[in-house]
Amino acid sequence: MSNTTQGDVIFNELKFRNLSVKNRIFRSNVSGKFDNYDGSGTQTRINWETKFAKGGVGAIISSYVPVHRSGRILPNYATIESDDRIPFWRKLVEKVHEYDCRFIMQLSHSGRQRDQGGVENQFNRAASSTDQKDPFHGILCRAMTVQEIKQLIGWFAAAAGRAREAGADGVELHGANGYLITQFLSSGINDRKDEYGGSLENRARFAIELVREIRRVVGNDYHVQFKISAIDHNDQPFFYEKKGNSLQESVQICKWLEEAGVDALHVSTGSMFPHPLNPVAPDFPYNTAARTYETMLSSGVLAMRNYTLFRYSWLHGLFGLLWNRSVKKKARENAALHKKLGMGSEVSPLEGLTALEAEAIRKNVQVPVICTGGFQSASLIRKVITEGYCDAVSIARPLIANNDLVNEYFAKGKDQPDRPCSHCNKCLVNAIENPLGCYDVDRFGGNYDAMIAQVMSVFHPTSFGA
Ligand SMILES: Cc1cc2nc3c(=O)[nH]c(=O)nc-3n(C[C@H](O)[C@H](O)[C@H](O)COP(=O)(O)O)c2cc1C
Ligand code: SF4
Repeated sequence: MSNTTQGDVIFNELKFRNLSVKNRIFRSNVSGKFDNYDGSGTQTRINWETKFAKGGVGAIISSYVPVHRSGRILPNYATIESDDRIPFWRKLVEKVHEYDCRFIMQLSHSGRQRDQGGVENQFNRAASSTDQKDPFHGILCRAMTVQEIKQLIGWFAAAAGRAREAGADGVELHGANGYLITQFLSSGINDRKDEYGGSLENRARFAIELVREIRRVVGNDYHVQFKISAIDHNDQPFFYEKKGNSLQESVQICKWLEEAGVDALHVSTGSMFPHPLNPVAPDFPYNTAARTYETMLSSGVLAMRNYTLFRYSWLHGLFGLLWNRSVKKKARENAALHKKLGMGSEVSPLEGLTALEAEAIRKNVQVPVICTGGFQSASLIRKVITEGYCDAVSIARPLIANNDLVNEYFAKGKDQPDRPCSHCNKCLVNAIENPLGCYDVDRFGGNYDAMIAQVMSVFHPTSFGA
């Protein structure tokens, strides 16, 4: 620890029950099409994760890793669906460990929320808690039988066992942002009449059974955490949908999850992905979306509607009305929180967007709480940790923009990077078609070639060492 980091809470070790992390900055989950079509991993993903480990984050929480091919959101993401995937993940974990960085694998299943399910899922209705299509892209689905639910629980548990065998330091269940576990948890989505639907207890049954079965397989001495949307905001942006789970309901779910054996909670927001509040942006990146969203056209029955809204600028106002109304409200609420915490105007009101929700959860559980949502300024991160809103923060886009945020800025006493992330979400809407990276050309002084060179840097070295 240097003189600058000594006594800085950001650089305090965080001890979970079964895991220690050297600082309080976690790389949040960021999915990118870096792997082979069939879900086998590549050197490119290892290069990608190494960038963050080298840049100083204490732990990487992986991108969405499907536990089974029926749960893919896009092809070209590495899966953990079978034992032959273990050697790849072992190699990746070993590389990340070289930088004293921990690796937590996010175990995931899409349910009805897919971008492109892959050729093997093209003609299947996605398995979900419900028969109702998703309201954004219109992905068709069917409610699983109880037998299928039990089979899925087995897939998750086997995947957790493989993650442990690969040397991963822990697993995270993706219970947030509209994927399969949210589809069970959310009162806005789950319309089942059996023991997995109806009351909060019934809706939480799938998640609790998952945690218990994973514990049975990985043992009591392995790190298991859960990512949850603290508030569903299921009527955003589509006002005709039900509201979904409230903060109070999520607090109760977190208490049950803790009893079932989770070691940490990772707090997000929103019952679909993307959602106006996650990842939040000052405005929707229409032009980029119009270029990349065409890959979605055959995926969902509402995709053509969305493409039209993105493609024609005279329709942007209409979509913006739906999309941005909750963002403006939340930014005002967050600005008040920043004022209370003594933040200056240099800290964007889009930073720390789920801090209040994380605090409510943290007050009701014993396990550490990680909070995601816009963080980029060391001063705010320090405040939310010292004032008890959370124990650590997870960062996605600002780390895509500056992989070395921790070592080059925070560890040197700088509050923000020289070329901060603008939260523009162009990385997000590019990701369904193009390699993941920062696509805000303004950050590169308008030099498009320099931006593309940065994006492409992840492909080197190749698996041939070139
Ligand atoms: C390109 C991109 C891909 C993402 N992929 C995932 C994912 O696979 N799993 C997940 O839980 N969250 C995912 N997220 C959400 C982030 O992990 C994070 O919680 C969210 O972006 C808010 O943090 P930020 O403001 O620091 O970006 C993704 C976000 C982005 C921008
Ligand atoms: S494209 Fe770059 S600047 Fe925009 S949100 Fe993504 S990382 Fe940040």
